[in-house]
Amino acid sequence: MPAINPIERYLVHLHARFQGETSGAIATYIPELANASPGWFGICLATADGHVYEVGDSRQRFTVQSISKPFVYGLALEDRGKAAVLERIGVEPTGDAFNQISLEPHTGRPRNPMINAGAIAAASMVAGHSQADRWDRVLGLFGLYCGRALELNEAVYESERITGHRNRAISHMLRNAGILTADPEPDLDLYFRQCSIDVTTRDLAVMAATLATGGINPVTRERALARHNVDEVLSVMTTCGMYDYAGEWFYRVGFPAKSGVSGGILAVLPGQFGIGVFSPPLDARGNSVRGVAVCAALSDDLELHSLRAPRAALSALRTRSTLVHTRSKRVRTEADQLRLAERGSEAVVYQLQGDLGFAAAELVARRLNAERTALKCVVLDFTRVTEVDTTAARLLCEMTQGQSEAGKGVALIGLHRHPRMRRLFDETRATEPGLRFTHVTDLDAGVEWCEQRLLHETDQPHFDADELPFDQHPLLAGLAACDIVELERHMRRHEYQPNQTVVRQGEPADALFLIVRGELSVLVDDLAGAPKRISTLSRGMSFGEPALLGHALRSATVRADRICVCWLLSSDIAAALRVDNPRLAFALLDSVLRSSWTIVERLSSETVVSTVG
Ligand code: DON
Repeated sequence: MPAINPIERYLVHLHARFQGETSGAIATYIPELANASPGWFGICLATADGHVYEVGDSRQRFTVQSISKPFVYGLALEDRGKAAVLERIGVEPTGDAFNQISLEPHTGRPRNPMINAGAIAAASMVAGHSQADRWDRVLGLFGLYCGRALELNEAVYESERITGHRNRAISHMLRNAGILTADPEPDLDLYFRQCSIDVTTRDLAVMAATLATGGINPVTRERALARHNVDEVLSVMTTCGMYDYAGEWFYRVGFPAKSGVSGGILAVLPGQFGIGVFSPPLDARGNSVRGVAVCAALSDDLELHSLRAPRAALSALRTRSTLVHTRSKRVRTEADQLRLAERGSEAVVYQLQGDLGFAAAELVARRLNAERTALKCVVLDFTRVTEVDTTAARLLCEMTQGQSEAGKGVALIGLHRHPRMRRLFDETRATEPGLRFTHVTDLDAGVEWCEQRLLHETDQPHFDADELPFDQHPLLAGLAACDIVELERHMRRHEYQPNQTVVRQGEPADALFLIVRGELSVLVDDLAGAPKRISTLSRGMSFGEPALLGHALRSATVRADRICVCWLLSSDIAAALRVDNPRLAFALLDSVLRSSWTIVERLSSETVVSTVG
């Protein structure tokens, strides 16, 4: 069946494109490797969220060989720390073949951990109570990277051990130079074993994706390498991973990779995905011919060179709006709405998105600095932000401090999604009194907080506690005094306690409510059945207007936020009024229509949000 997914289709196409490439020769210097079939060809791509695309012989087993080197180097870094490892192994590319017998003249250090000398030195730094324990740790580590239990290929291991005279010579040179400090044989044995672990192309892709996502296996979600060691491992792969082809590899392909003599290539697209390719015939430099061709094509076709300039900084600022257009769900009196329309430009809302690094934080800081000096409040919304690196967090924290020292209120939305940044803000606030901000969970609460500051010049929630006399309710403003008296006779006053449900979504709409004290939340069930606040009503407002139409159902639930008082006009009495006092009924409907229209106008204006150019 033809592949529907475009990525799958593309990989199938790549496989077909290079299947006919039959140049190269299978490595035979380890006799057991000569048993491989030149036709084996697998391509896999594992995404940062753990989806694996597999094409061709993706489950064919082969020994990992030199592809093990960066991973054991990572283990040495974890076991001994960077300084101790650097003391014994350099990080300079050699431009030599993988098995070149070369050590730095003055220090005796192998030049890097990707050539055999450096890899044997790295193996020697793997900790353990015993030799068996050290091997268990290495095998277990590869199991973590691949997300499954792995096995040693005994035949290849024996073959390497018996014929590995050159590696034995290298290990004795390391002993002579003092890089290995005891009998070299156990460290050499560990090296032979790590090279002889059986893997598949799929495994290579998942191992690569684990490095791409900062050390966590994206399929199992288990950590294989500490975040802070990933950069070092990827660096040596970038500069030395392809031996004497490393320079041309980076020039042509442009991302970190590692090859092995059995025909595997593992490549990492940091932050995006991992690639595994397997095809045993090798070129003159010992790299898989089809593997190199596939990676080069991927790089060209998908524009993956890691030095290609990103446009992340510009897109980090998703929208910029002011309170002229963006309003909270709190329904305001006409006077407050007018005031917000006048002063709305003094509050600005930045919605950020994606991964924030230096460039993104710099852009936000610069844009905000260029805003009017009359700005009273700033809302930074991190809801759509996926990652904030340490530098960006520090810059945003300093920027917030600058804004608050200049007397501007700053509301941060969704800081709880970024615990590291939140910790930085909290720690800085503890030592720097100049840093003031409020943290709220959703944009609506942040906007409401700004409205509060613009309307009442205070951060404290403001509400009118005393009860509005019935005859001063704004809905009745257009009615004659005698009509108001008449209406009061037909309505009843009702008090509600905090959290009391006043009306429930789906029930018959049997009364119109005029609020004369307190605040109420209007809630609608979302698709999962959870109540979601769509607005807040306060004294002077009304709800339940469909009751005047008869036979309608409540479209939302209304719940008292604090002690509330409402006047209720039942739908039965409203219907009777139409017959007994049509003039009054008409005047009331006229008022209700006007107030509903004001809400429609507000909702229309809120849909206009200026986007960042
Ligand atoms: O050291 C060796 O000979 C092998 N066990 C590993 C060599 C290897 O994969 C070289 N890489 N291309």
